[in-house]
Amino acid sequence: MANLQTTYLGLKLKNPIIVSSSGLTSNVESIKKLADNGAAAVVLKSLFEEQILQEAGSLSVHSDYPEAEDYLKAYVTSNNVEKYLELIAQAKKAVDIPVIASINCVSALNWISFAAKIQEAGADALEINVFVLPTDSRKKAEEYEEVYFTLAEKLKKVITIPFSFKLSDHFTNPLRIIEQLWYRNVKGVVLFNRFFAPDIDIEKMKVISAEVFSKPADIRDSLRWVAIASQKVPKIDISASTGVHDGEAVVKLLLAGATSVQVCSTLYKNGHAYVKTLVDFLSAWMDKKGLKTIDDFKGKMNYGQIGDPEVYERSQFMKYYSNYE
Ligand SMILES: Cc1cc2nc3c(=O)[nH]c(=O)nc-3n(C[C@H](O)[C@H](O)[C@H](O)COP(=O)(O)O)c2cc1C
Repeated sequence: MANLQTTYLGLKLKNPIIVSSSGLTSNVESIKKLADNGAAAVVLKSLFEEQILQEAGSLSVHSDYPEAEDYLKAYVTSNNVEKYLELIAQAKKAVDIPVIASINCVSALNWISFAAKIQEAGADALEINVFVLPTDSRKKAEEYEEVYFTLAEKLKKVITIPFSFKLSDHFTNPLRIIEQLWYRNVKGVVLFNRFFAPDIDIEKMKVISAEVFSKPADIRDSLRWVAIASQKVPKIDISASTGVHDGEAVVKLLLAGATSVQVCSTLYKNGHAYVKTLVDFLSAWMDKKGLKTIDDFKGKMNYGQIGDPEVYERSQFMKYYSNYE
């Protein structure tokens, strides 16, 4: 039988399936169920920078929308930082798989010292979900990007556990970001994050939430960039995310060069036990192909390994699909 072991951020994983940060990883009971069904690691639901700053007394919640302020204050009060540290400690006691904590942030401010507490609570690693929406037309891209680099430099001084960055696909040059993070001791990147997005209800004339869950077709950007980044920045670990809904997608992303794959929407849809279906599919596929270990095929179809790397560069439809009518 195939050996599914892999490593991510220097952590040994029994297989490449990690459960993404979400409500699924916000309580010990659910985390235990995921582990019982074969999840190799979990990324805990994110703690928000605002929660940490509030606890430290340095959050000035201000917004043009009083409702948003109220929501944020209520959320921060009922999900305090202490509870998060308890969740880490309890999850570590309950399961024997790596527990990766997660912080959602928009700045490289003084919340960073809190990362030491996450380490003390027993987290095996830390995932930083950082995203600054560029709404200032006068600000240069570098100024936004600098937040990522400053964060990495500061974190390196505060913690010794490995940390990764969960990135958006909204960079002009994602490879530079990934490479620069690697130079700053970031051991892994999650490609890519999927964000909350707005939609408009045209009957009520109200801005509402767009569909929260991904679809299988959403794998496309992750697949391209995993394939390119695993060739161009080969030392950094890549955890592929967004649109991984079935075993085929897991195999594709490993072939593209990911060391692990994160799943979320598909588990909301199919239940915790679906982790086992994904693991079983991977194992059966490897047996069918005569592959003994993940290393036997990881990255074998990345940008540098296929004969025609141009297929990962094609972007414009016109040239290739001009006959479609
Ligand atoms: C209900 C829900 C809650 C989420 N909460 C978080 C979160 O707290 N932190 C985070 O980094 N990502 C969060 N995410 C994003 C997921 O971790 C994941 O990146 C995204 O759903 C794409 O993966 P998928 O296509 O497998 O769903 C959440 C997603 C969903 C659907």
